[in-house]
Amino acid sequence: MSSDTREFRRSTIADVPAARRLGAEAFGAPTTPLPDPDPAAWPLPHVRPWVATDDGEVVAGLGVRSFTSWFHGVRLPTAGFAGVTVAAERRGSGLLRPLMTAALAEARALGDVVSTLYPSSAGIYRGLGYEVVGAFEDVRVPMSALAAVRPPAGGVRARRATAADVPAVRRVYEAWASAQNGPLSRAETPFAMEADEMVGPDADYTGVSLAVRGTGPQEEVLGFASWSRGPGYDRTNTIEVDDLVALTPDAARALWRLLGSFASVAGWVQVGTSGGWSGVDVSRLVLPDHAATAAPRPYMLRLLDVPGALGAARVAPVTARVPFAVADPGTPDLEGTWTLEAADGTVRVRPDADAVPGDRPTFTSGGLAQSWSGAQSAANVRLAGGLSGPAEHDAVWDALWGGRQVHVRDYF
Ligand SMILES: CC(C)(COP(=O)(O)OP(=O)(O)OC[C@H]1O[C@@H](n2cnc3c(N)ncnc32)[C@H](O)[C@@H]1OP(=O)(O)O)[C@@H](O)C(=O)NCCC(=O)NCCS
Repeated sequence: MSSDTREFRRSTIADVPAARRLGAEAFGAPTTPLPDPDPAAWPLPHVRPWVATDDGEVVAGLGVRSFTSWFHGVRLPTAGFAGVTVAAERRGSGLLRPLMTAALAEARALGDVVSTLYPSSAGIYRGLGYEVVGAFEDVRVPMSALAAVRPPAGGVRARRATAADVPAVRRVYEAWASAQNGPLSRAETPFAMEADEMVGPDADYTGVSLAVRGTGPQEEVLGFASWSRGPGYDRTNTIEVDDLVALTPDAARALWRLLGSFASVAGWVQVGTSGGWSGVDVSRLVLPDHAATAAPRPYMLRLLDVPGALGAARVAPVTARVPFAVADPGTPDLEGTWTLEAADGTVRVRPDADAVPGDRPTFTSGGLAQSWSGAQSAANVRLAGGLSGPAEHDAVWDALWGGRQVHVRDYF
């Protein structure tokens, strides 16, 4: 293979069979063969497929999902990388970096300010500026742990959702998601919470249960759990819960108790949750028994636009001036020296032409991802080698970026 016969480009529909073969080799073949792509519906909305070719042969591929996700109180355009694969015989030959770099440059040009992915191994992406900031995880809770959840107080009760409740369910999700760093906004396909996928005869779930307070027009929806019953009725069975989102502890209790009411016919509740790498989801704090086993899927973050990502944030109303830099030879697109000015809850980031090496806190790309997302304190990022230089601004930096936990609930 010579580098002048290689090309890194958006894929065309003609690349689909070869790209699918690579994907099936890397991630396993789909159980039912996929139909030929429909030229009128390819690529799927919000997906940007890329390939690397050598002498015309497809030798690597990936897909970039375009969505918005919540960081620091705003919905940020996000490039979610998925299906990254290099042909078995070509691995280790330097295809990954130029392919990723080209797709990242396009994402930045289209306005994405951060990029995220679920790695099969975190080490693949560290050199490209990504770092683990959280995890989406399936947590298995034994029914015995739910038996002792106190009944909800304050008139909170559970009822089954209908199609008419889906807007309220979306509002609950948004109230939760907008207070975290990381969750997808679910404003875009395929992540949108569509009524026909949530409730009714073709729904993905057995039911969506609500935690509500009040009646009639005064009724307030305070939480929801979307759950699938699964087969069988002995203690080996598991009730699977895609989402359990509660805006009050009593709403969380109502939902956990509803799930716990299956104790005679199922032994486990498996909940899609997050936070294991940075802080447990608060809905789990009402469980008196912490017995649970988790299968985490780490989530990695990389910034694409440093002034854009920091400058979009809504932060604490502190007045501060912090010089900082990113120095990371692996990610030349992110390197720079800036001064951050915070006032009235907003941030401005200006480039500094007159910076002197070593005069300011200096992050690696991964260190900045961890610190900006609130996944780790400045002190911990220093311990991990992601931050060096003067430490006198660390406390202010943490006050700006450290107030939200990282959570994510959608796999791609
Ligand atoms: C992962 C994959 C795309 C990497 O392609 P590649 O050509 O082998 O990558 P490279 O040899 O250029 O290595 C890139 C970096 O990843 C690291 N890496 C590669 N395989 C790794 C592994 N299994 N675990 C941890 N790190 C790994 C390399 O050390 C290198 O790190 P560096 O940038 O710090 O030097 C390829 O091995 C593959 O297709 N694997 C099977 C599918 C898969 O796991 N895809 C990723 C899905 S998230």
